[in-house]
Amino acid sequence: MKIYRTADYQEMSRTAAMILAAQIRLKPDCVLGLATGSTPVGAYEELIRQYRAGYLDFSQVRAANLDEYRGLTRDNDQSYYYFMQQNLFKHVNIRPENTFIPDGSRQDSDEECARYEAVLSQLGGVDLQILGLGHNGHIGFNEPADTFAKVTHCVDLTRSTIEANRRFFEKEEDVPRQAYSMGIGTIMRAKKILLLVSGSEKAAILREVVAGPVTPRVPASILQFHPDVTLIADEAALSRLNA
Ligand code: F6R
Repeated sequence: MKIYRTADYQEMSRTAAMILAAQIRLKPDCVLGLATGSTPVGAYEELIRQYRAGYLDFSQVRAANLDEYRGLTRDNDQSYYYFMQQNLFKHVNIRPENTFIPDGSRQDSDEECARYEAVLSQLGGVDLQILGLGHNGHIGFNEPADTFAKVTHCVDLTRSTIEANRRFFEKEEDVPRQAYSMGIGTIMRAKKILLLVSGSEKAAILREVVAGPVTPRVPASILQFHPDVTLIADEAALSRLNA
């Protein structure tokens, strides 16, 4: 695992955007695996800035998201579909037909997960996957468990994740209890992975991810076994590691 230490969130975001931009320039029709949440927002802003300045072209880029809440329709302002439109897609020239995300409105979870996994295979796999890190070590919505999930699946969100995501909803009862998520196996098939982590509240879990045992109890620890992972983290997040 390569580790880039940055001073703060802004530098983490600029560094991540540079790597994403280089990927798009090297392979204009690349498949980007994208994440939602607070962590990648700064990198997306930087990509939008570079697009507006004429440095980046998304016309051939394909984008596949990690996850989506089960039960939310696309027009729900808390859906990850909506998040991606607001935070990236509507600001750049990516084609809507080249953006993919599990469909939270589909109730048949087996069917929807199989459909999404087939979409990812048809795309030929993810070239560069962006990941944020949950407080409990989750990536995508792969929560701590007894085994690593192989493929896209329906997840029961843990109390810690429901509480962490509570900030985006009016009431805790509004936070969905389930989500569709790429599996750990799906994520591990990405050719390159960029893990972004910011803030002291992630320092303890980041230490376990990078220096602890590989275990499904800390899902992101599996990244120690991926051949091409770059961690970009700020000082605060790295404060418990001597990297
Ligand atoms: C989002 C996702 C999650 C988040 C994680 C961190 O698509 O898959 O794993 O990356 O929960 O969230 P933030 O960035 O809000 O701290």
